[in-house]
Amino acid sequence: MSNISVIGAGYVGLVTATGFAELGHSVKLLEISPSRVSALERNEIPIKEPGLPRLWQRNHSEGRITVTGNYIQGLLGSDFVFIAVGTPSTRNGKPDLKWVRAAARSIAEAASGPLIVALKSTVPVGTASLVADILARYRKNGHAYPVVSNPEFLREGAAVYDFFNPTRVVVGSSDHKAAEAVGKLYKPLGSPLVICDNKTAEMSKYASNVFLAARVSFMNEMAILCDEYDVDIVKVASIMGLDPRFGSGYLNAGLGWGGSCLPKDVRGLLYMAKSRGISLHIIRAVQRINQQQPYIVIRKLQRLLGSLEGKTVGILGLSFKPGSDDMREARSILVISRLEDEGCRIRAYDPAAMEGSARLLPRVVYCRDAYEVASGCDALVLVTEWDEFKELDMKKLAAMMKRPVFVDGRNVLQPDAMFEAGFVYEGIGRRGFGYKKLEGILPSRPRTGRNRAARRKTALAEEPTNR
Ligand SMILES: NC(=O)c1ccc[n+]([C@@H]2O[C@H](COP(=O)([O-])OP(=O)(O)OC[C@H]3O[C@@H](n4cnc5c(N)ncnc54)[C@H](O)[C@@H]3O)[C@@H](O)[C@H]2O)c1
Repeated sequence: MSNISVIGAGYVGLVTATGFAELGHSVKLLEISPSRVSALERNEIPIKEPGLPRLWQRNHSEGRITVTGNYIQGLLGSDFVFIAVGTPSTRNGKPDLKWVRAAARSIAEAASGPLIVALKSTVPVGTASLVADILARYRKNGHAYPVVSNPEFLREGAAVYDFFNPTRVVVGSSDHKAAEAVGKLYKPLGSPLVICDNKTAEMSKYASNVFLAARVSFMNEMAILCDEYDVDIVKVASIMGLDPRFGSGYLNAGLGWGGSCLPKDVRGLLYMAKSRGISLHIIRAVQRINQQQPYIVIRKLQRLLGSLEGKTVGILGLSFKPGSDDMREARSILVISRLEDEGCRIRAYDPAAMEGSARLLPRVVYCRDAYEVASGCDALVLVTEWDEFKELDMKKLAAMMKRPVFVDGRNVLQPDAMFEAGFVYEGIGRRGFGYKKLEGILPSRPRTGRNRAARRKTALAEEPTNR
């Protein structure tokens, strides 16, 4: 068993540290935020990750993991140190490496023995050599500190599962022995291990994340076409997903991708290209589609309700994805802000992210549950696909609303069942159901894709042929 230090008690660092402790290693977690350190000492987990509190408590109480803000203490006797600090975007999209630099400098100044430095944060190509330079510049002794790039592929909301079931472990280094030593730590997990150079490891993380973003943006663009032609994108996706060349993941059309990773990694890759004078046309389009995607909801609501001024809209789900309390670049922020600009009153509920949301969106009325949200609303919009929203009593929900309009921003509900429950239902790239219900309670009947297509067909038929 090894002595491992992990820097940064965020989604990645906290899960990695706890996971290594569970595998039997002796782990020290280093965190600069004193409130995070004291919360963890009290066995309070500062983030929402299924399974993490139980795992932390057990390993903490059995002494396999400790937490500290002191680098000398936190690195004492360690064989490995993993850097898992944040790398958010700066204004121009450049990944901000100030926390990585600070962590590297602190390691160099505090380490007293030989140490393998593993870089887990998502960083632009070339960062491992930057870290190696910092370590060499500030080290207080003659020890070598090989740097291994070990990008992290875990998903928030499933991070504990992903730690123990990684799809692949990537270790890149110019020091093969160091890469092998880091790879060996993951051996009990039995996943494929790829040993490569630092730059390949760094690029593989960006390519993987941006490819996921591209798949979703592709489906979102297809959804616009499906809406227009009255085709159900969910069925199209299920047919596509049967092709083993594609696989079925990340084919869901919806309100687009948010969170702390995909948006910043798309920006990071675009920045990397720009700094070498290269334009990435596909990736630029992937980003642009995603920027527009949340506003589809506004257009759908305008079509269904007429002017949004003075309307009350209920939002189900605020976090950027289910299973997480993370509000970073959540789609709910864009949807709600735009609806507020249009003059709407917003009521909302999320099982985990209400506190974080209240700091960002203070004008929203936060409710105890989905039923309280629905009460008196002109429309409901499902923004985050928490499981509990799939279990709602839809009849009860529809009956509580002023107008039974439901826009499913994640295509997770069954259109037929929603229609049966009394809703006018629309997904994203999914046929609308139940427009008849709006007759008499709206100024005019909403235009469907089919209506538009029919109008265009008529217009074409009326075009003179003897030009
Ligand atoms: N969140 C994810 O799902 C995910 C998945 C894969 C990769 N990543 C990458 O992993 C990295 C970390 O992401 P995160 O979401 O865990 O970040 P986070 O912001 O949740 O956590 C970072 C933690 O590091 C601490 N910290 C910052 N500087 C420090 C220092 N010098 N010493 C000690 N602690 C310090 C912060 O206080 C914070 O608690 C990022 O590069 C991210 O892109 C994230």
